[in-house]
Parts: sequence; C-alpha cells; structure tokens
Amino acid sequence: MFQPLYRPRRLRSNENIRRMVRETKLSPDDFIYPLFVTHGKGVKKEISSMPGNFQQSIENIVKDCEEVQGLGIPAVLLFGIPEHKDEAGSEAYSDEGIVQHAIKAIKNKLPELIVITDVCLCEYTSHGHCGVIKNGTVQNDATLELLAKEALSHAKAGADMVAPSDMMDGRVGAIRHTLDSEGFSDTPIMSYAAKYASSFYGPFREAAESTPQFGDRRSYQMDAPNSREALREVALDVDEGADIVMVKPALAYLDIIYQVKQQFNLPVAAYNVSGEFSMIKAAAKLGWIDGERAMMESLIAMKRAGADIILTYFAKEAAALLNK
Ligand code: PBG
Repeated sequence: MFQPLYRPRRLRSNENIRRMVRETKLSPDDFIYPLFVTHGKGVKKEISSMPGNFQQSIENIVKDCEEVQGLGIPAVLLFGIPEHKDEAGSEAYSDEGIVQHAIKAIKNKLPELIVITDVCLCEYTSHGHCGVIKNGTVQNDATLELLAKEALSHAKAGADMVAPSDMMDGRVGAIRHTLDSEGFSDTPIMSYAAKYASSFYGPFREAAESTPQFGDRRSYQMDAPNSREALREVALDVDEGADIVMVKPALAYLDIIYQVKQQFNLPVAAYNVSGEFSMIKAAAKLGWIDGERAMMESLIAMKRAGADIILTYFAKEAAALLNK
C-alpha cells in the first residue's frame, strides 16, 4: 500500500490539537455593532430583511448598548433616521439631530463604550443620495462642506470616532481640517476608503430608509471589477489623515482586504454588510445551511484576509458564542 510521506491530517485529529495550530482567532474585541436610531419613545421596530436588527428610539438604543458592552464588544456604529428629510439633508448636521442626541445619551450612561458615527447624507436627503444635487448630479465639493459640518456636530456631541461613508473625493481631508481647527484633533477618522457600489446594501436601505430616489450610487461608489483603484482610494485617504481604513462589502471583496492589509500599515476594517448578513439568515431559516457555522466561517474569513476590525450585524450573536 502507498504510504504518503507527509500527513497534515495528524494535526487535525481532535479539537484540542486543532486549537493548538489554529492560525486565526476571533474575539469580541474585533467587532463593531451597527445600530439604527430613530425619533420617538419606546420604538423598537424590527427590520424585516435583517432579523434581530431594529430601528430603535434612544432609550432602547442605550439598553442595546449596555448589552453590547456586557458582551465585551468595544464599539458601536450609529446610523440616524431623521424626522424630516430635505434636499440638503439638514438633520445630518443639526446639533438637535437624532444621532447627536443618541451620542449624548449613550456616552452619559456608558462613558467607556466607543461611539462611532456614520458620516453621510443619504439617510437625511429627500433624494436619498450621499451629496448635494445640482442639475441631477451629485456635487463633490459642495458636499464636502456639509460632511465636515456633520462630522463636527457628531464630535461636539461626544462621538469618539467619525466614519465617512459617502465616497466623495477629499472628504477625509475636509473632515480632518474642520475637526482640527475646531479643537477635535484627537478624534480619529475611520474612512470607508474602498467602498463599492454593491447590491449587498439592499437590506440596509430598508433599515436606514436611504434608497436613492433616482439613479444609483455608481458615480461615487467604486466599480466592482477594480482592485488597483481600491489601493489608490486607500492611499488618498491615508494621505488625507485617515486613522483606520475600511473595505466594504467584505465577503465578495476579501482580495481587497488582503491587498490593503499587505500594503498599508494602518488598522484595516471590513464591513460585513447587510446583504451578507441577510443571506445567511435567510438560508438558515429555510434550513439550507447551518446559520451559526456560516456566520463564524464568514467572520473568520474576513479576519484571515487581514481585517483587524469587523463591522457586523452578527456582533452580538458571535460575541455570545465566543464568550461561552
Ligand atoms: C451610507 C451607508 C450605506 C451602508 C453604510 N453606510 C449604504 C449605501 O451606501 O447605500 C451600507 C451598510 C450595509 O449594507 O450594511 N452611505
């Protein structure tokens, strides 16, 4: 009988051996949990396409944050659903905006929890685009001013970090400049550096009520076939002062996460987006896959590819499993 010279199976024979040679490990430390905050009292409205995720009013958000902190997750990412939308997305940068109030409430109760805010206009504009519209197109430089105002109002309200997700050119520089000149030079920026125009954002747009009312986001978000361009986008954001760079989505872009990790010496974040979450939930519900295993397998894939930080709707579920 032929006897192989090498037998990698030796190191797979039982769980303890596998644990000893495991190259990548997940921890609750790795996660950021996204939350959707809305006006009102006692609101907890499930997002039908994202089971277990809710639009919540502030006191429920604070409760959720307590749970997040109790699970050992260090940070949350806030998205706001405004009372009124308008052309210029004015609630985004109003000191009385929903996110600004939520930041204060969370920091008041849980001063240690890191509160990160998504800086973008799409949830706040009546047209659903991430910037100012003129003649039917999104205006880059006019948008920068509003994004900088939004980031500043978040920082003033007590946000620990801001995360611009709009993909306008120069926004990291514009936000950094404004924060620095207003006394917030210690507030870090996590930029959605390589963000692709993706079908996997579908469920999020229900969650955040941010579907564009005309056209799509392809004139500002990246084209899926491109990877060298992603490195260029990341390099620009690093140059402009980003502290953490993000790749989004995660699963269909593991090659981008890997390349960014190899080429830059900053922490790399991966956004495990809504569609990636919902696909697993849906297939598990139909009994087609083991949802828990598929969740852990995809999270470990992101980490193995190079993500230091994972933004995920699975954060609480995965942390609870890891804490067992
Ligand atoms: C806002 C924003 C989006 C997501 C995060 N920030 C949606 C979009 O660009 O359309 C997507 C998050 C997800 O799908 O989980 N610009």
